[in-house]
Amino acid sequence: MTKYNQLKVVHVRHYKANYVSLTLSYDNQMEIPMPGQFFMLKPHNTLLGRPISVHNFFRILKKGYIEFLFKIVGKGTKNLSELKRGDYVSLWGPIGNSFPTFENKKTAILVAGGRGIAPLFFLATKLFEKRYEIHFFYGVKKSEELIHILRLRNMSNKLFISTEDGKRGKKGLITDLFKSAINTYTSSLKDNLLFHDQGNNAVCYVCGPDIMMEKVCEVSLSHKIKTYISLESHIACGSGVCLGCTVESTGGQLFHVCKEGPVFDAEEIYCK
Ligand SMILES: Cc1cc2nc3c(=O)[nH]c(=O)nc-3n(C[C@H](O)[C@H](O)[C@H](O)COP(=O)(O)OP(=O)(O)OC[C@H]3O[C@@H](n4cnc5c(N)ncnc54)[C@H](O)[C@@H]3O)c2cc1C
Ligand code: FES
Repeated sequence: MTKYNQLKVVHVRHYKANYVSLTLSYDNQMEIPMPGQFFMLKPHNTLLGRPISVHNFFRILKKGYIEFLFKIVGKGTKNLSELKRGDYVSLWGPIGNSFPTFENKKTAILVAGGRGIAPLFFLATKLFEKRYEIHFFYGVKKSEELIHILRLRNMSNKLFISTEDGKRGKKGLITDLFKSAINTYTSSLKDNLLFHDQGNNAVCYVCGPDIMMEKVCEVSLSHKIKTYISLESHIACGSGVCLGCTVESTGGQLFHVCKEGPVFDAEEIYCK
């Protein structure tokens, strides 16, 4: 059940490109968060909370810790970035559904654009524990935005990086890199693990800007790869009441990102 709480800040790390990681001491009475779920974090001088995905959850000597990773884009995230060790943060969650995993699918393709790395990193840690073969695509505008490269490299069978400034990885968009990599995989169908079951063995998880997710899904769905996306929307109540976060499915059905999402089967959102 979603719980309102105040958690203590145990670590704050400022990355380049205005990214901040906030680690909080977790209340063991609260539900254990799953990859894809988010919390509403309330900056101290704002009325509304801000939705932030769970970036990691770990235990040290049975004590739980939760980590959030966010980019400073406005008043709320700026305010959250000023928190110091020992401060308390008001928050409620975990909210929403999570990325599904499958017993019969052991190859995962993760595609993160920019701050989409936040939930997909957490997902990668869980898939790694479940011994999935991980193919991680990670694209950013500027190379200094890249986060956790070493850890991603350790967890992934293959890590593909693209930067628009071309200083690291392949210069350009992650959508182009993804498209060419998938086409290469399919052309070497026989010896590639990814498609040993006619493409049905792989599952794809995508999080990033809308246009990037749409382009990735166009490719993955055309190869019949089961694909899940994590949608962003303006979240106010976070409990399915205000209707501020609705998105329309391909069938014309209205979904609340905060309740039925934020994770959706890509076919429900992008298939025409
Ligand atoms: C389910 C969910 C999970 C999210 N997880 C993360 C995360 O893990 N890390 C992270 O950095 N961000 C995440 N976001 C986005 C984050 O919530 C917004 O960046 C934040 O609310 C902005 O608040 P602000 O007060 O700093 O900016 P504001 O002053 O409110 O807005 C600054 C700018 O950001 C835009 N903006 C505000 N809210 C959103 C939003 N929800 N989506 C897209 N643009 C927005 C505004 O249009 C404006 O241009 C998530 C959003 C959702 C819906
Ligand atoms: S944010 Fe209010 S219904 Fe989803």
